[in-house]
Amino acid sequence: MKLMVINGPNLNMVGVREKGIYGAKSFQEICSFIQKEAEKRGHSITLLQSNSEGSIIDFLQKAYFEQYDGVIINPGAYTHYSIAIHDAIKANAKIPTVEVHLSNIHAREEFRHVSKTAPACIGQLCGFGEYGYIMAMDALEFMYGKKEANQ
Ligand code: DQA
Repeated sequence: MKLMVINGPNLNMVGVREKGIYGAKSFQEICSFIQKEAEKRGHSITLLQSNSEGSIIDFLQKAYFEQYDGVIINPGAYTHYSIAIHDAIKANAKIPTVEVHLSNIHAREEFRHVSKTAPACIGQLCGFGEYGYIMAMDALEFMYGKKEANQ
C-alpha cells in the first residue's frame, strides 16, 4: 500500500515536551519505528510533519492527487478545533484515514475530549503511544483487504 503519515503541530517536539504524557522517545525515533514497520510489511510510506494548518491540508490534498491508499494522521491540537482539516479529510472520501494520538485524549483535560477531525476519519486510536501508528497500519490493511474483496 501507498501510505502517508501526517503529524501536526508540536509532535516534532515529542521526546522533549511533557515526557510523562508523550514518552521519552524522540520524534525521529518514532518516525523510524513507523518507517521500519511499514517497510517490513512491504508498504511505501511518506512521513510528513508540519506545525501549520495550511501545510497539513496541502499534505492531505497531495494524498488525493497522488493516489495514496491510506492516511494516518495525528493532527495534534488541531484535532480539537480544525474544521478545515476535517473538511480536507472529508474531501479525500475514497482514501481511508485513521486518526492517532499518542496519549489517551479522553483521560485528559476536557477540551481534548472533543475531536473535530475524527468524524471525518474511518476511526480513531489513542492512548497507545507510538504503537498507535502501527495499529492504524493494521486497520488500513484490513480495510484495504475488504475493499479488494468487494471489487
Ligand atoms: C496529541 C493530543 C493533543 O491533544 C495534543 O494537542 C497534541 C498531541 C497526542 O498525540 O496525544 O499535540 O495529538
